Formats: sequence, C-alpha cells, structure tokens
Amino acid sequence: MPRSKSERCAALALALLLSGAFAGTRLAPAAQAVNAANTAGGAALYRSCAACHGQRGEGLTASKAPALAGLPAWYVDRQLGNFLTGVRGATPDDTEGAQMRAASSALQSEAQRASVAAYVAGLPRPNARPRPPADAAALANGRNYFNALCSACHGANGMGNQSLGAPPLASATADYLLRQFAAFKSGRRGAHPQDKPGAQMRAIAAMLPDARTERDVIAYAAGLGS
Ligand code: HEC
Ligand code: HEC
Repeated sequence: MPRSKSERCAALALALLLSGAFAGTRLAPAAQAVNAANTAGGAALYRSCAACHGQRGEGLTASKAPALAGLPAWYVDRQLGNFLTGVRGATPDDTEGAQMRAASSALQSEAQRASVAAYVAGLPRPNARPRPPADAAALANGRNYFNALCSACHGANGMGNQSLGAPPLASATADYLLRQFAAFKSGRRGAHPQDKPGAQMRAIAAMLPDARTERDVIAYAAGLGS
C-alpha cells in the first residue's frame, strides 16, 4: 500500500491549496438566483440537449454524453461558457468536446445558459450506479488515494465544493470520469490560459503514479453514494 507516497502527494496538494492557486477563481453567480419562469425557459432549451444527454439528463453511453441531472448550476453554467468560447473542447483531438461545442452554440446568451443550467440542476440525480465488483485491494487503493488527493476539493462524499470550483464526481460513469481525467493529464482539457479551475485539476491529474491507480480512484469516486 503506497501510504507514504499518497501522504506525500496529499501534502503537496495541500501546499498547492495554500499557495494561493485558488486566488484567481471566480464563480459565475449568474445561475444562482433563478426564478420559476427562468427554469421553465430552461426546460424548452433543454429539448435540443436530450438527444445526447437523455430525456431526464441521465446521460447516454452511446453518445458519450455524461449525466447532467443534479449537477450544480454554477458548474454547468461555467462548462457551457467554456465550450462556447473554446476554453474546453477546442483541441483537434477532442471529438466529444467538438460535438458539445457545436451544441453549445445554441446558447449564445448568458441568460440562456443560466436558465438551462438551473433546469438540469433541478432534475433528480440519477441513482448512483452499483459499484462494479472490485477486489478489496483495488477498493482500498482507490479509497486511499481519493481521500489523500481528491477529497480536499471534491469532498469525501464526492459531492463537490462550489467555493473550490470542484464538481461532484459521485454517480457519474467511470468511463466519463476516466476520459476527463486523461484529458486533464494530456492537456486536452484545462490547458487553455483562461481555464484556472482546469489548471488546478491538471496539476492534480499528474500526481497519480500509474494507470492502475487512476482506474481504482475513478472507480471509487464514481461509486460514491451507491
Ligand atoms: C451531439 C450531442 C450533444 C448535444 C446535442 C449536447 N451535448 Fe452536452 N455533451 C456532449 C458530450 C459528448 C459531452 C462530453 C464532452 C467531453 O467528453 O468533454 C458533453 C458534455 C456536456 C457538459 C459537461 C458536463 C461535465 O460534467 O463537465 C455539459 C454541462 C453539457 N454537455 C451540457 C449540454 C447542454 C445544456 C446541451 C443542450 C443545449 C447539450 N449539452 C447538448 C454531447 C452533447
Ligand atoms: C485542487 C482542487 C482539486 C483536487 C485536489 C482535485 N480536483 Fe478534480 N477538479 C477540480 C476542479 C476545479 C474541476 C473542474 C474543472 C473545470 O471547471 O473544468 C475538477 C474536475 C474534475 C473532473 C471532471 C468532472 C466532470 O464532470 O467533467 C474529474 C474526473 C476530476 N476532477 C477528478 C479528480 C480526481 C480523481 C482527483 C484526485 C486524484 C481530483 N479530481 C482532485 C479540482 C480538484
């Protein structure tokens, strides 16, 4: 068990936290005060999203589109802005990001993005998926690293932390989370100069020692809440 290593990594992550890596983080307040009329507009706007993300925002594996239901509005809003402006999804090798970039062009105004973000945030989060059978060593390895390196921002329960800009990971599919993790690691996501939250995640993505640990941590995170 790489206890001392994960502890060293945790110390590093904490140092990063304290060094003011978060100084530039500003969360869009736009999606926060949303009235019922706004949410109704969101339902209409969401119709164009359902083909890929599912009627209830549950995510569709075939289109590689993740679940949106129950994600916090501030996070959805920021991602929609990122796709629209090319902060996310604009590198030549990002097939899924390119699809989502095209879809985001339907939401040109900040009000539209806030409205659809509020709508999906209000949909019930899909039931947490049952954990895939993992052997005890894999589970312990995943938990160990998650608690040392990820929980400071994503929460021990995987439910995210708005003040740190970190989204929930619990009950997303492991496939989606693993693809995003790889994207941060390679710079397909998080390398744009305007992507400060993404840059923080990139720094962390480089810290896991091997592919097996990445799989174990992601499986653990995806299974949280189940
Ligand atoms: C053509 C299919 C398609 C359509 C239509 C589409 N999306 Fe997506 N969306 C995707 C894919 C694929 C991804 C994953 C991108 C990636 O892997 O980085 C995604 C990702 C997202 C994310 C990021 C989620 C996260 O956890 O970071 C948000 C938010 C989102 N979509 C919202 C929407 C909204 C709102 C609409 C409707 C206006 C919409 N999408 C329409 C395919 C689509
Ligand atoms: C320093 C804070 C921080 C730590 C520690 C951290 N993350 Fe993140 N993570 C973030 C932020 C911020 C984002 C959102 C980036 C954005 O807005 O695009 C994120 C996003 C993600 C995403 C994409 C989720 C989605 O819906 O697209 C995954 C997957 C992820 N993190 C996994 C991890 C794992 C696994 C660990 C531990 C090894 C970890 N993170 C540790 C801050 C952190």
